[in-house]
Amino acid sequence: MPIRQLSVSGVRNLAPLDLQPHPRVNFIYGDNGSGKSSLLESIALLSTGKSFRSNQIKQLIKHEADRLELRCGLSTEPADENSAVDMEDEDLKELYSLRLRNGDVLFRFDGSVLTSQADVATHLPVQVIEPNTFRLLVGSPEDRRQFLDWGVFHVVPEFIEQWRVFRKVLKQRNSVLKQKEESWLDAWDSGFVEASEKIHQHRIHYIEQFVPRFEETLKALDPNIQVRLAYYPGWEKDSNLADVLNRQRERDLQVGYTQSGPHRAELRIKVDKLAAADVLSRGQQKTVVAALKLTQGILFKQHCGTAPIYLVDDLASELDSGHRLALCQLLEDLKCQVFITSIEKRQLMESWSPSDYKVFHVERGEVREEPRLDQANAEEPQG
Ligand SMILES: Nc1ncnc2c1ncn2[C@@H]1O[C@H](COP(=O)(O)OP(=O)(O)OP(=O)(O)O)[C@@H](O)[C@H]1O
Ligand SMILES: [Mg+2]
Repeated sequence: MPIRQLSVSGVRNLAPLDLQPHPRVNFIYGDNGSGKSSLLESIALLSTGKSFRSNQIKQLIKHEADRLELRCGLSTEPADENSAVDMEDEDLKELYSLRLRNGDVLFRFDGSVLTSQADVATHLPVQVIEPNTFRLLVGSPEDRRQFLDWGVFHVVPEFIEQWRVFRKVLKQRNSVLKQKEESWLDAWDSGFVEASEKIHQHRIHYIEQFVPRFEETLKALDPNIQVRLAYYPGWEKDSNLADVLNRQRERDLQVGYTQSGPHRAELRIKVDKLAAADVLSRGQQKTVVAALKLTQGILFKQHCGTAPIYLVDDLASELDSGHRLALCQLLEDLKCQVFITSIEKRQLMESWSPSDYKVFHVERGEVREEPRLDQANAEEPQG
């Protein structure tokens, strides 16, 4: 699972690079504008098909280039068992992605073409914690729904297929509503309710596991923040969806779409009765989102045997030294592969001193591995 080889070309200001990351901790430092975020963005793009900074993927493609290419050599061993393994002895599986400026995209895993981003994500699950991470709290319900579904999807592999079925039924029901074909609705509603229930049950099951782990994780990051997670299925709580659809039929016909269902589910994050986003400071918001993302990693590891890869961009942004230490400690406990950036090397190393790590310096788009001082000293000839 950890990335043991990484090649990137055609991304923002980065010169074509070929790195051998550490299966555990990778410290990346460099001045403003050197290319640190671009490096993490490349890994996130490969996994999620999205950038955490731009809405348009073509913004990532180097000016004047027509394409970007990303290549990861993935270990088949979990990160915590793989530190001691020599890379030459490993049977790496290659995940490859090519993106053209015109939007065309190609994915391959181990030589076979993959047809969907969801397939790619199963090979390279990542969680991103970056300066705009707080947006998960302040952003749209859809952002939090997607966050929740990332966890459900990785824990319940059949979820993605059930979600596709649900989307199809929803589309068909909406088209019946648009055409005002009321007499057809009875036939569609039973399929809609059945598909919705499956999605809802998986989400409920996941949330039940999630909430207690989240509370523990947040407490470890900051015992003074009290937030509560509340899941809303997308229709009136404690009501039967079939009844809700019946009651809302007239209104659905008027607006021409389905107003209730799992496509309207919400994960609400509250402090007392208020939205956390309206009450918490920016640093507290980042801490809460970090706790949410770490909790997903913990559950993922529980179900899949290995943790996702964490991309932590600009560790220092909004977090004081106590919170930085706590976050790094939880990442250490998770024994996952981490790529973590900061402007200053000192700040990184003060927050975290793991025994297994590599350091990379980024300078004007060039990424170079630095020898570790403790190892360099150990290798110096004696006397
Ligand atoms: N499409 C592009 N082609 C070439 N260069 C680009 C492109 N998009 C952005 N850049 C440049 O890439 C550089 C690297 O940006 P990046 O955000 O990765 O830096 P960073 O090291 O994370 O900086 P900071 O410490 O300020 O967060 C910037 O100078 C930016 O202007
Ligand atoms: Mg940056």
